[in-house]
Amino acid sequence: MNPKCRTVVMIGGNGSNLQAIIDSSALSSLIDIVGVISHRPKAYGLIRAINAKIPTSVVDHTQYTEDAFNHALADVVQKYQPQLILLAGFMRILTPAFIDRFAGIILNIHPALLPKYKGLHTHQRVIEAGDSEHGATVHFVTSELDSGPIVAQIKIPVYPKETAEELAKRVLVVEHWLYPQVIQWFAQNRLKFEQKIVTLDGKRLTSQDYLLSLPATQGIVS
Ligand code: GAR
Repeated sequence: MNPKCRTVVMIGGNGSNLQAIIDSSALSSLIDIVGVISHRPKAYGLIRAINAKIPTSVVDHTQYTEDAFNHALADVVQKYQPQLILLAGFMRILTPAFIDRFAGIILNIHPALLPKYKGLHTHQRVIEAGDSEHGATVHFVTSELDSGPIVAQIKIPVYPKETAEELAKRVLVVEHWLYPQVIQWFAQNRLKFEQKIVTLDGKRLTSQDYLLSLPATQGIVS
């Protein structure tokens, strides 16, 4: 049997995506979460990691300039010798120096249908714009914020009079299924990001391939 994919999860908050990754039965034989790193010392996700007996590290962004933070973070990440780095509610900008050091192995989940709504407060912005659709995207990370190549997306409808909090909750249900699915592809060596090109099963991914549907068993989101 192949050794499991050494995976580091980087968080900054509640860590519900981290929990979904920890709990995924499909991932348990494929990845080894060797470390969880938070940029906030009080992130609840750290407790989730400790409960799952996963080593944790904190690199508190308030103690550094942006460059020094990225440098310190890269050194901590390197110690875990990851083959895959997952951003899961990690809310700091990564510098090109950081990203170059871990080229092709950083994935992010973003609560919007990229390339729409990069950045923060996506749910509120979707509601204010009167959009009828919203969703979540997993993409490889490059030095441009929320702009790396998309791997997969799931769309959900926006309900009339829905609040940003209600919408965020439904998007999280989608995220908790979507992220483990993409991680599974990577850990099985099916998904690759090399020479700026993303391939799945040896075939270049195009925008027609991005859209996935949530299995009915994952809760009512539409
Ligand atoms: C998730 O919705 C994730 O997509 C988002 O933060 C939330 C973290 O939730 N990430 C970003 O906005 C990154 N730009 P969690 O801590 O419960 O996983």
